[in-house]
Amino acid sequence: MADAPLMAGKSVLVTGGTGGIGKATAIGLAALGARVGITGRDLARTEAAAAGIRAAAGNPAVDAFAADLSVQAGVRRLAAQVLETYPRLDVLVNNAGGFWAHRHVTADGLEHTFALNHLAPFLLTSLLLDSLTTSAPARILTVSSGVHTSGRIDFGDLQGERNYSGQRAHSQSKLANVMFTYELARRLDGTGVTATVLHPGVVRTGFGAEDQTASLAVMIGVARLFMKTPAQGARTPVHLASSPQVEGITGRYFVNRKPKTSSKASYDTAAAARLWQVSADLTATA
Ligand SMILES: NC(=O)c1ccc[n+]([C@@H]2O[C@H](COP(=O)([O-])OP(=O)(O)OC[C@H]3O[C@@H](n4cnc5c(N)ncnc54)[C@H](OP(=O)(O)O)[C@@H]3O)[C@@H](O)[C@H]2O)c1
Repeated sequence: MADAPLMAGKSVLVTGGTGGIGKATAIGLAALGARVGITGRDLARTEAAAAGIRAAAGNPAVDAFAADLSVQAGVRRLAAQVLETYPRLDVLVNNAGGFWAHRHVTADGLEHTFALNHLAPFLLTSLLLDSLTTSAPARILTVSSGVHTSGRIDFGDLQGERNYSGQRAHSQSKLANVMFTYELARRLDGTGVTATVLHPGVVRTGFGAEDQTASLAVMIGVARLFMKTPAQGARTPVHLASSPQVEGITGRYFVNRKPKTSSKASYDTAAAARLWQVSADLTATA
């Protein structure tokens, strides 16, 4: 008899699964037999992506959830729907995120890049943690970026109220992803739930397309020729979500499926604890 597929019987949630790295990750995990939920802001677009994932992976078990994750009520609604739909949750992939050249403010009055790239994974993880813990061994992955190395957590102006730059907000949020993961791993020690963070590579996706400066659009246009495909960008998240080789590995940063040292700032445990507290206050999860 053939072996069961690697992820048979597992439930996975991938945020931002309508395109790019998230969709390719969902295809990879559905092809390994997982039941996969994807999210996007628009239900029709998310349903269409789910249909594409089912066809590409040859697995009918793909669910679509609509949620704007830059708004905390959207994150809370999504978590409630996921808990209602999946009796167990084995893997959470915090992937949704992006780059915005200009400062935008969410319905909660928070700076958009910080809200979507950092606070949304923080809040969603917190709301799904009991389910992940009861499903242990379980895995939480967060898609960061190599640009975290130029990031700095500016506790005096976390939301760029005094001074906003798209690059600075983005690299700060991606450093926050790494520090959040390391702090989460410390807090989850002994639970059987692991937390890892990754850089997917530079990948040809819709990244940054919603709000670019003209010079950035030209740079990205040229660079697109040399970028990884979404399927190549999904290799590290699929590996971290599914491979027996990384069972039990936690609190690590991965690039090209290998653990790698992240920036010096990312290992600052006092700053990580402070960021955790600020994030808990801003999401009312304290
Ligand atoms: N591409 C790269 O080179 C690269 C490099 C390093 C890291 N990353 C990271 O990889 C992750 C995925 O990016 P990508 O390159 O695949 O970008 P993408 O093609 O733009 O995909 C972004 C995904 O996030 C969703 N999304 C955007 N805003 C959202 C919101 N407010 N609420 C809910 N979902 C939202 C989008 O769904 P809808 O538009 O359908 O709502 C889409 O599914 C991001 O965290 C990014 O920072 C990318």
